[in-house]
Amino acid sequence: MERTIIKDTLNRPLHDLRISVIDRCNFRCQYCMPADKFGDDFAFLPKTALLTYEEIERIAKVFVGLGVEKIRLTGGEPLLRKDLPILVEKLSQLEGLKDIGLTTNGVLLADLAVELKNAGLKRVNVSLDSLDDELFGRINGRKVSTKPILNGIEAARQAGLGVKINMVVKKGMNDSEILPMAEFCKNNGLQLRFIEFMDVGSTNGWKMDDVITKKQIYEMLKDRYDLEAVEPSYFGEVAKVYRYKDTNAEVGFISSVSESFCSSCTRARLSANGQIFTCLFNGNGHDIRNMMRNGATDEQIAEKITGIWNGRTDRYSDERLAETNTNRKKIEMSYIGG
Ligand code: GTP
Ligand code: 5AD
Ligand code: SF4
Ligand code: SF4
Repeated sequence: MERTIIKDTLNRPLHDLRISVIDRCNFRCQYCMPADKFGDDFAFLPKTALLTYEEIERIAKVFVGLGVEKIRLTGGEPLLRKDLPILVEKLSQLEGLKDIGLTTNGVLLADLAVELKNAGLKRVNVSLDSLDDELFGRINGRKVSTKPILNGIEAARQAGLGVKINMVVKKGMNDSEILPMAEFCKNNGLQLRFIEFMDVGSTNGWKMDDVITKKQIYEMLKDRYDLEAVEPSYFGEVAKVYRYKDTNAEVGFISSVSESFCSSCTRARLSANGQIFTCLFNGNGHDIRNMMRNGATDEQIAEKITGIWNGRTDRYSDERLAETNTNRKKIEMSYIGG
């Protein structure tokens, strides 16, 4: 297939596409979809608003033609979308696509791991913020224990999927779990990534004071382990990765608050209702769904995406500390899938 590499105003190529397949979630994580703000009457997207798998496949194909080599499926919780392996199978046939991953809370993973792997999925990133059942139940807002998640992780491994663990660290919420999680993942050969609590959306009550930085966590680990830096595995990798010396076990940090990485941000995001977002913190989506439903050709869609990417100036995390406009319109993490 003929491919064009497109670049934005800061010379960043388009390389990754994150596709949200659903805006619902079966969790209510305190830092993402707090239960008091996302109640039973919350208006999630109606089914007709969601892109169909055929529509997602078509948009993804155009993106691949514009240089995308990596697709990650997200939500809300992507495994709540019916028959997800069917979408994975369609995407895995796109010529030129090198990697398909999934970011999930893991609740439904044990049931779906083999089917997803057979459909062509390569990797899963599973969120797990604590090993303590009581605390984990409080963080996820649904009293779910760690058991189904640990089973999901094991099933994914058995199925031959690459597995990484994402842990959002928030002061007073789960800092006590930093060392237990590090030890557990190290002993089980799982790459754990510590994620700084971010100011996404407007419902999670973010304060700078609640952030535990990469540096603070790194210092805690260094007291106990010998760590050596690992080269990024691809341009624009968000995690900074270290190896526990003399082992194959690795640990990563996603330091989007304290050490931003906008200068190498090559990610576009497609929401479940077909809008393109060029930054996690840019609330202005660009509609593709209606354009497509009104009969646009692939060439017209490619032109539209090229125009959006060429005009992209986003570097929110770089600018955050100098930010004075607190009224900036932001999207919820659950809506755009991290
Ligand atoms: P791989 O490197 O492919 O394993 O995936 P990833 O780390 O890009 O994906 P994942 O969905 O696991 O992302 C982990 C977390 O990193 C997300 O939930 C976000 O919190 C954060 N993150 C990912 N991409 C960005 C980004 O572009 N900007 C910011 N600020 N944070 C991001
Ligand atoms: N800060 C950092 N990461 C977040 N996630 C959700 N909300 C936040 C936040 N406020 C991440 C979780 C999960 C992914 C779906 O989004 O780590 O891995
Ligand atoms: Fe938690 Fe992920 Fe659901 Fe947000 S989308 S509530 S982080 S499981
Ligand atoms: Fe990319 Fe925006 Fe995150 Fe910066 S803040 S890394 S531009 S998504």
